[in-house]
Amino acid sequence: MVASPARSSPMRVVSSRKRQIREGSMPNSGVIILSAPDRKEIGTGKTHDPMRLALAQDANLSDCVHCIATICQCNYFEDMLASTFASLRKKRVTEIAGSRHLCAKSLLPQFVTRMIRLMNITEKDTFYDLGCGNGSILFQVAYMTGAKCVGVELLPHNAELAREAWNSMKPILERHSGRKMPEVEIVSGDLSLVINDPAFIADGNKAVMTSNMLFPKSLTHFMSERFRAMPVGSRILCFDDLYPHSRSVAAIRDPEAFQKFDMMDYIWQEMSVEWTTAEGKFYIHTRV
Ligand SMILES: C[S@@+](CC[C@H](N)C(=O)[O-])C[C@H]1O[C@@H](n2cnc3c(N)ncnc32)[C@H](O)[C@@H]1O
Repeated sequence: MVASPARSSPMRVVSSRKRQIREGSMPNSGVIILSAPDRKEIGTGKTHDPMRLALAQDANLSDCVHCIATICQCNYFEDMLASTFASLRKKRVTEIAGSRHLCAKSLLPQFVTRMIRLMNITEKDTFYDLGCGNGSILFQVAYMTGAKCVGVELLPHNAELAREAWNSMKPILERHSGRKMPEVEIVSGDLSLVINDPAFIADGNKAVMTSNMLFPKSLTHFMSERFRAMPVGSRILCFDDLYPHSRSVAAIRDPEAFQKFDMMDYIWQEMSVEWTTAEGKFYIHTRV
C-alpha cells in the first residue's frame, strides 16, 4: 500500500469565484443539484467493459474533477474529515503487522460521492459499512443522503475513534446544513455476527458496502451466502468480487447467484481511494 494522495493536489487550485462558493454561497443542503450533460459513466458494466467515469479535464464549481455534478460536496467533506480527525487526541490505527485484514485505509470523499449516486442511496435506506475503520464513509453518507448508517469495526480502538469523530462532527454538519443528521451507529465487533443476525436480512431498504479486499476468503464467502437472503432491491458494493461472474463456467457452478443478483463491474477513478493513486475495480451487486 502506498501513501495517501497529497491533499494539495494540482486538481485543487482554487479560483476566487470557486473559493467564494466553497466558503460562503454554496448550497449547503448536501444535495447534488446540477449535472454536466457531458459527464457520464461509460461502459456496459460487463467484465470486459466495466463502467468508468474518467476524471474531468476542468474542475467543477466546487473544485472537484471527479463528479458529474456542477456542484458537489467532495472537497467540503474532505476538509471536514481532516479537521475533525486532527482535532481528536485518539488517532487511527491503519496497520497491524501480521493482520492484513485490519488495514484501515479508506475510500476518499470523491469515491463516496460517486458511490452514493451509483447505489442510489436515499433517506429511505439503512446504509451499512462492514469494516468501517474510522467511520468516514458513514459520516458522508449520513450527511449527503439522510440515510440511517451502521458501521461495524473489529478493532475497538478505531470503532471508538469513529464514535468520537461523529460526536464531534455531527453538530457542525447540522449547523452547516440546517438539517438534523440521521442516526449513525458504530458497532464494535465482528461483522460476521452482525450479518448473521436476522435483523440484517429483515425487510427494509438496504445499501451495504464492504472494503473486503484484504479480508480472509472465508469471510467474503460467508458474506456472499448471507447477502442472498437480503430483501430484493438491496445493493452491495465490494472490492473482492462476491460472485465470480467473470468466469465462463461461473453460472453453471453457482446458478443461484445469477438468479438473485444483477452484477455490474466498475473502475474507480484515480485519486479516489487512500491506498493508491491509481485506478482499480469494484463491483455493485443488486438483489433482484
Ligand atoms: C480497508 S478498511 C475499510 C475502511 C472503510 N470501510 C473504507 O472503505 O473507507 C477495512 C476495515 O475492516 C475491518 N475489519 C476487518 N475484518 C473485520 C471483521 N471481521 N469485522 C469487522 N471489521 C473488520 C478492519 O479493521 C478495517 O478497519
